[in-house]
Amino acid sequence: MTDLFEKLQLNSNLMGQHADRAYGYYMFPRLEGEIGAHMKFREKNVLVWSLNNYLGLANHPEVRQTDAEATAKYGLAYPMGARMMSGNSFILEEFERQLSDFIGKEDTVVVNYGYQGIMSAIDSILDRKDVVVYDSECHACIIDGLRMHIGKRFRFEHNDIASCEDRLRKATRLAEETGGAILVITEGVFGMLGDQGKLKEIVALKEKYHFRLLVDDAHGFGTMGKTGAGVGEEQGVQDAIDLYFSTFAKSMASIGGFVSGPKKVIDFLRYNMRSQIFAKTLPMSLVIGNMKRLELLRKHPELKDKLWEITYALQSGLRDRGFNIGTTNTPVTPVFMQGGVPEAGNLIVDLRENFGIFCSMVVYPVVPKGVILLRLIPTAVHTIADVNRTISAFEAIKDKLIAGEYATRELADMAG
Ligand SMILES: Cc1ncc(COP(=O)(O)O)c(C=O)c1O
Repeated sequence: MTDLFEKLQLNSNLMGQHADRAYGYYMFPRLEGEIGAHMKFREKNVLVWSLNNYLGLANHPEVRQTDAEATAKYGLAYPMGARMMSGNSFILEEFERQLSDFIGKEDTVVVNYGYQGIMSAIDSILDRKDVVVYDSECHACIIDGLRMHIGKRFRFEHNDIASCEDRLRKATRLAEETGGAILVITEGVFGMLGDQGKLKEIVALKEKYHFRLLVDDAHGFGTMGKTGAGVGEEQGVQDAIDLYFSTFAKSMASIGGFVSGPKKVIDFLRYNMRSQIFAKTLPMSLVIGNMKRLELLRKHPELKDKLWEITYALQSGLRDRGFNIGTTNTPVTPVFMQGGVPEAGNLIVDLRENFGIFCSMVVYPVVPKGVILLRLIPTAVHTIADVNRTISAFEAIKDKLIAGEYATRELADMAG
């Protein structure tokens, strides 16, 4: 018999295979200093493009003050216990009313973390007869939610409506046999590629097929739509989203998440989401801090305008200089280049050490072999000078990459 721990090999794992050379640099880097566009990495100043602090709320003075005052008043314990038993509060209920009003849904339930919240929401509303149709690029939390679903699921090609319709046809046949229902799941903004989910087209399929639509709008909440109510608002189909999910971990720069929808369904979630029923409720300081962030997000549209000014400058600047930024139509900005994993490592070291620019690097097996994806997240606290500096640096590293200056067989050892 095998010993369980003996068979765990970090270097055979998808993420862990480069651990001995990568830890603390390419993976698990430690950014220090006040959260913003300029931070410290290994004691050097870097211009940071890898934080989802879209609206710059992480260090907004009112946010910092509210967080500090709420923590001083309530500590991290109150209220104790799971929400259903002893962890509920009037303030959390009020916050849920405000979220419902903002998103334009009847009711909302706040969840402790986006990841476990959406997993549990998916798990609780489905039974073995139900059939799920979902986009192939859906986030890991959706996939994990679906792993708990013991009924059938069909994956459609990313943002491919013909493929989605094909799966819906199959799902309909199956659901008619089982007597179950159909749930379609997609995202508002796909966080790697930056393209929007085709919500409008999926909603149009409701005329031919009977299903409910769940949208994970983690990156769209606060960044998309006229008021920041997300991609449903942006595409004019907010009402047709049956369940709207988002996290507070991106534009709100905090912790927690929420699901909004019809009162009957949200009440069902309150009484059935296992990860919430059997876990401690959010600390009051987070609830109050999140409420302040929502207030600022609603009161200060200029933050979103600034985010978009930086986004347009960055994306048009990159495009004009011949960079491939894929099909993004949101602030998420992927820059595609060509090269192997060790080459990408050298490139990122040069970018960080010599140009003082910090962005995330994604390589095989997350993207196809030979593709280097550098992912830039613009925010309201970046400046046009930051954008210009970054574009010049990208031109320089691209030239070096093409000239073969980063070519190497081994990933540079930067661990430590
Ligand atoms: C699309 C999407 N859904 C859900 C989550 C999980 O949210 P949280 O960080 O609040 O657990 C993330 C976070 O990375 C995400 O990108």
